[in-house]
Parts: sequence; structure tokens; C-alpha cells
Amino acid sequence: MTNPARSSAPADRLPNAHLAEILSLVRTRHGLDLSGYRRGTIERRLRTAMIAAGASSSAAYLDRLRADRRLAGDLLARLTVKVSRFYRDAAAVERVREALAARLAAAPGRLAVWSAGCARGEEPYTLAMILDDLGAPAGPDVVATDVAPDALAAAEVATYPAAALIELPRAYRDRHLTPVLGSGGAGFRVHPSIRARVRALRHDLSTARAPPDPRRFDLVACRNTLIYFQPALQRRALELLLDALAPGALLWLGPAEWPAGLGGGRLEVLDRRARLFRAIGGSADA
Ligand SMILES: C[S@@+](CC[C@H](N)C(=O)[O-])C[C@H]1O[C@@H](n2cnc3c(N)ncnc32)[C@H](O)[C@@H]1O
Repeated sequence: MTNPARSSAPADRLPNAHLAEILSLVRTRHGLDLSGYRRGTIERRLRTAMIAAGASSSAAYLDRLRADRRLAGDLLARLTVKVSRFYRDAAAVERVREALAARLAAAPGRLAVWSAGCARGEEPYTLAMILDDLGAPAGPDVVATDVAPDALAAAEVATYPAAALIELPRAYRDRHLTPVLGSGGAGFRVHPSIRARVRALRHDLSTARAPPDPRRFDLVACRNTLIYFQPALQRRALELLLDALAPGALLWLGPAEWPAGLGGGRLEVLDRRARLFRAIGGSADA
């Protein structure tokens, strides 16, 4: 026999009915369908949200959630993991930089880049700095998308703590960021010339039927995001990423991610360690 008081305690597995209703509230209020996400991550994050809200059980938390619309916003912010940093996994970034340089050399002009699951902008701004460094013409060339409104708002502000810059080469920091003192303490602000290269917009990889832009991209970066999805949703999102690639273009995933079946044979491995792949067809210069 189960003890209802125990079964809704935060330390236990959350009752299915409570979890389903909580996720349904997030979906109706914020348009994010988390049913295809890994349950372990959702439960861990949900427990943190319950503790922060002072709720002693999932039933109590659900009551609060029904009554307080803002709490669903707080929950959404907690359910979307936004850990990131500039130049994350430096060796892999260097490999991407080389591949972009080769693509630019083969076809000089503007390169189009999509950073999907861009968090607070650390990744798209890194890519914008690289494009600037490679001499790509100025102008908006990086589309940065995320499903979390708080992530996109932070990307607009473009001010970061020093901890976000630990992997960024010093020369990039000196050239593209300015030290600032704000209400959150000391930080670094991305220069307007780099911000002007990035366009941030909401796009949901779990429900979107098309990429965020009709252009075909030279690089699609989707790192440390698919890992939160269950396999069926991973496959669906991967299809979307593949559809966004120009012939011979690059797909860059996170270190724990791999495209199932190399995207049905649509990809070849360019660098296994860097999780860098190339769309089959088109230029092979990278
Ligand atoms: C761990 S961060 C990765 C940030 C960056 N790509 C990196 O590797 O450093 C994962 C991001 O994916 C976003 N995300 C989660 N679900 C998403 C979805 N369905 N569509 C788009 N972005 C999503 C989260 O809001 C979060 O900002």
C-alpha cells in the first residue's frame, strides 16, 4: 500500500498525475511542451522549484501553481537549463573556427550561422566574434534561438560575469568586450559591433515545423540541448537542424551528443572529438 503523504514528498518520484498537470500548466501558460524531455532532468529541476517556492509536496506546489500565474514563469526558467560560457570546449571551438575559415575561403562573402538553444547568448556571440576575426563582412549573420524568454532577454542585454569568460582567449576579450559595473556587480559587455551580428528570437525545437529563417545556414550549432530530449524528440529536432543546412555546411553538437544514424546518411563526420559534422553534398574544403 502506498502512503499518499510520502508519495507526494519532494524527495520521492513525483506522482504521474501531478507531473502531468504541472507540465500541462507550463504548456498552456507558456507554450512549451516538455512531454518529450527526459523525465529525470524535469523531476530534478521541479524539485528545486518546489523547494524555492516553499512547497512541502508536489500537491502543495500544484495548488500554488494553479493560483499564481507568475510561478509557471519561474518554473519554466528553472526547467530550461541555461548553463553555458563563451568559447565553451575551446579545442572544439578552434576546429569550428578552422572549418568556417575554409568555407569562407572557398566562397568569400557572408556566412549564415544558426545557434539553436543559445542560452544567454554566450555561444552565438562567440561565433560572431569568430566571424568578425575571420573578416566576414559586417551585418547580421548569426541567428540565435532559444525557447526560454529569460535566456533571450539576457542575450539582448549581453552582459556577463567573468566566470562566463574563463575559456575565451584574452585577445577576444580585449577586442570584443568592455568591463562594466552594473547592479549585478562587475561584468563584461559585448561590443555593439558584435551584438549587431546576432539576431535573437524565440524558436522551439520541440514543436517548430521549420527552421527560424528561410536561409540555408553554413553552420548550425546545437550544443548541449538535444541531450535533454528523449530519443524520439531528438530525432525530430535533428531533422529540423538538417533541413537548415546548406550543401556541405557544418553541424556542431555538444560533446555528449551524436546524430543517430548520421542523420539517415545526410551527414559525414568531419571531427569526431569536436562533434563536428558536414552535410553530404557540396564543398568538401573544410
Ligand atoms: C545547456 S543550454 C546550451 C547552451 C549552449 N548551446 C552551450 O552549449 O553552451 C540548453 C539551452 O537549450 C534551450 N532549450 C531547451 N529546450 C529547447 C527547445 N525546445 N527549443 C529551443 N531551445 C531549447 C534552453 O533554454 C537552454 O538555453
